Amino acid sequence: MSYRASAVSILALSIALAACSREPDAAPGPEATASEQAAEHTAVYPAPTEQPIDPFTYANYRQIRVSHVDLDLDILFDEKVLDGVAVLDLVYVDSDATVLVLDANDLDIKTVEANANEAWSAAPYTLGPDEPIKGSALEIELPDTAKQVRITYRTSPEAEGLQWLAPEQTAGKEHPFLFSQFQPLYARTMAPLQDTPAVRITYSAKLKTPPELIAVMSSAQDPDGTRDGDYSFDMPQPIPAYLLALAVGDFGFKAINDHIGVYAEDYILDASAAEFEDTPLMEQAINDLYGPYKWGRFDMIVLPPSFPFGGMENPRLTFLTPTLIAGDKSLTNVVAHELAHSWSGNLVTNSNWRDAWLNEGFTSYVENRVMETLYGEGRAVMERSLDLEALKRAVAEAERPELTALKMPADLAHPDDAFSQVSYAGGMFFLKFLETRFGREAFDPFLRSYFDHFAFKSVTTEDFLNYFEDNLWMDNPDAVTKEEIDAWVYEPGIPDTIEAPKSDAFEKVSAQQGLWLTGEISAADLKTDLWSTHEWLHFLNALPGDMILELFADLDSAYDLSNSQNAEIAFAWYMKAIAGGYEPALAPLDRFLMSVGRGKFIYRLYAALIEYDRRDWAAEVFARARAGYHPIAQRRIEEVFTDAG
Ligand code: BES
Ligand code: ZN
Repeated sequence: MSYRASAVSILALSIALAACSREPDAAPGPEATASEQAAEHTAVYPAPTEQPIDPFTYANYRQIRVSHVDLDLDILFDEKVLDGVAVLDLVYVDSDATVLVLDANDLDIKTVEANANEAWSAAPYTLGPDEPIKGSALEIELPDTAKQVRITYRTSPEAEGLQWLAPEQTAGKEHPFLFSQFQPLYARTMAPLQDTPAVRITYSAKLKTPPELIAVMSSAQDPDGTRDGDYSFDMPQPIPAYLLALAVGDFGFKAINDHIGVYAEDYILDASAAEFEDTPLMEQAINDLYGPYKWGRFDMIVLPPSFPFGGMENPRLTFLTPTLIAGDKSLTNVVAHELAHSWSGNLVTNSNWRDAWLNEGFTSYVENRVMETLYGEGRAVMERSLDLEALKRAVAEAERPELTALKMPADLAHPDDAFSQVSYAGGMFFLKFLETRFGREAFDPFLRSYFDHFAFKSVTTEDFLNYFEDNLWMDNPDAVTKEEIDAWVYEPGIPDTIEAPKSDAFEKVSAQQGLWLTGEISAADLKTDLWSTHEWLHFLNALPGDMILELFADLDSAYDLSNSQNAEIAFAWYMKAIAGGYEPALAPLDRFLMSVGRGKFIYRLYAALIEYDRRDWAAEVFARARAGYHPIAQRRIEEVFTDAG
């Protein structure tokens, strides 16, 4: 373990430190990693262990680091291919290095050149075998003093990070649509890169599209620019490759304020701007807690329903699922979440997917603080309470105990395994625990200083723990014990120091539910008028697994849950309907699975259908729905079918 052994030693250090200046070190360049920066502390602080190599990259970033990527790509909808050139700027960490290793997956490499002494020449290269998760290593032999490489290439129509939609798969039905999803390791299906969160790059890009379409990226852009098929982008702030992003289609833009706005297809543009109108207040709330938003614009794009996530925090341009547009702002915690990533994740980035909780747990914590500031403690507690239910389920269902501690095991099979509720809700509850023990008056400024200190860097769990020791714990050594911290970070299961949320609103819902389940009142008599989406979700999640069909029918006829337009409510209802064998929900569920590609819903729905003896039905729906799903979702659902045997 790299953080110091006990609070006692922290005390000793604090005495030693009293004589030293607390001035922050001169900020190293944006490319410096946290461990390099920590190394500068060694006079006083033991440095964290050197960051472990990311096992999901081939890149030799310890020898050579790519600092900037320039892309020039034609977007060929007919072929479902990006065709063009990537120029990569190189920084030598090891001045003797002569080989550059990049990540590539499904790329058709045409030429590779190197620029040495202002002259380009062909560079010998090999493309290694195609591994199922990592793809292929692109090894390039560099001439002495090569400062850049230039690679001419094409992507594959099957690139897992890109979804190409035919016009009929869009709402407008007239134009095709393309969007990317590169987290955790699909940027390498778009361009040859160092595709690891340990490396940050700036980028510039030119995209050529059919002239009637608009292109946007996770970079600076002008929402009022002309639509002519030639688009240029510049991202001057260093980001990990997984935050590269692009979307191309026929969509409009609506401003929410002078630096926040939303892109969406016409049918949903006004509704999206209305649903997300509180985004400026969310930004204000986080600014007040953790310092100013650093990325200039915060725009959002509402993608077609096949987008496989609720949201994706692409810098300056968050990607969102249209299933958030519920009409009542009840699902906008996802916007708070993606906005919060502008601090936790995009500014301070996990250097390895083993440390994904540093991105997702911190972000879930900030998200919940935002919801509390905007809508009150009642809503924040309800959301935490739903999160705790989800966390308990994730821990119970984990394939192995090592996946239930915040720090993921070294032999993580796939980065996706690091993104369970353990990282999200578990990370949030850990930070809540620290918040309670140290008090907000100390914890809030501490988090703010953490975001400042590691801004534009990639960090490990141990970097965080070291920083926590030095900047919070040692000021109040009795607030927590090392055993308590270790239980959260390194030991499986939910620690007993968790602060279980207690929602009065949910207790009332449960009381009502009790009356209904025992037959004292009928479904129509439930006092649901003032129930929010969250109260409905609590009610539905708490329904007994073996509920009789009459009760399903009673609820459905009173509230038409099978046709709920709120995707979260519909999902929670379908999960119960599948388990209880309530067949009238199947036709609406079929429509849901045909029209929604959000993984959070559909992976579990397919798994439940298989578990509750509807494998054939599920396979038939999947056969029809498959082509409309994102490649990531297609693969995941195939795994659901194979894992179920
Ligand atoms: N960064 C994630 C999405 C992601 C995770 C993409 C792992 C690829 C791999 C994003 O910020 C996220 O967490 N989205 C959540 C919403 C959130 C409120 C829990 C989602 O998509 O549901
Ligand atoms: Zn997230």
